[in-house]
Amino acid sequence: MFLLVMQLVIRRYRPSDKDTVLALFSISIREHIRPCFHNAMTSPLYLAITLTLCVTGYLLGSVLGAVVLPGAWVGLVYYCCHELYASYGREKLRTEMQDIPGNYLSRPDDCFWVAEAEVDGRAQIMGMVAVVAKQSGKERHGELFRMIISPSCRRVGLGFRMAQTVIDFCKERGFSRVVLETSSPATAAVALYKKLGFSHVLSPTKTQAPVWFVTLAKVSIFKMEKHL
Ligand SMILES: CC(C)(COP(=O)(O)OP(=O)(O)OC[C@H]1O[C@@H](n2cnc3c(N)ncnc32)[C@H](O)[C@@H]1OP(=O)(O)O)[C@@H](O)C(=O)NCCC(=O)NCCS
Repeated sequence: MFLLVMQLVIRRYRPSDKDTVLALFSISIREHIRPCFHNAMTSPLYLAITLTLCVTGYLLGSVLGAVVLPGAWVGLVYYCCHELYASYGREKLRTEMQDIPGNYLSRPDDCFWVAEAEVDGRAQIMGMVAVVAKQSGKERHGELFRMIISPSCRRVGLGFRMAQTVIDFCKERGFSRVVLETSSPATAAVALYKKLGFSHVLSPTKTQAPVWFVTLAKVSIFKMEKHL
């Protein structure tokens, strides 16, 4: 795999990459559902709630109550974790990911890259990342989006290379910093960003999902930034 990474080419997105890029995006969004659900259900609060509902169900009804009541609770938490990510994925697939050239490549200070490797004589997309230039007053910065590495090509330094590509691109344009938004179940991504020198920023974040989804899923959505 190390050899493969050496042979990887990071290049601008082409329209012919669309199907693979969309498929990789869908897989990676859904990957967050399981750790999200696991984190929520293994928290002391949720374990206590589940146990309490189990006992309450038993006292109110029977063994069936002891299963149905906590079962409904666990189902509700899973639904929130699932919808939080699945609805985000659906929305992005329906909108901005349908027109990557229009949304990420039409301005000179934005870019969308893919990492391509030759596998069994065929070129395959192994990762992607994008940056969009943002202006606030006189300050210009880059916002990093869509950092995704194919599950078959992880932990060999490709995510680091892709993120470094974004950082170098932003430096060349004289941007003051690179910012991004992520969520607590994305522990690998947070570790990667910290390794690259990003730190947490205290700043309000917005989600398209209802607030109670985020609350019940016990997810934190936060910003990170790296000054250049
Ligand atoms: C996050 C992600 C892009 C990392 O890509 P990657 O190519 O595997 O990362 P790298 O091999 O370049 O790792 C660089 C560093 O990141 C950290 N890291 C990466 N994966 C990690 C993991 N699973 N656990 C802990 N740290 C991890 C480590 O510090 C690592 O350095 P090391 O290997 O010297 O310890 C990849 O796991 C991914 O696509 N995840 C799903 C999508 C996602 O969460 N995207 C981010 C949305 S904000």
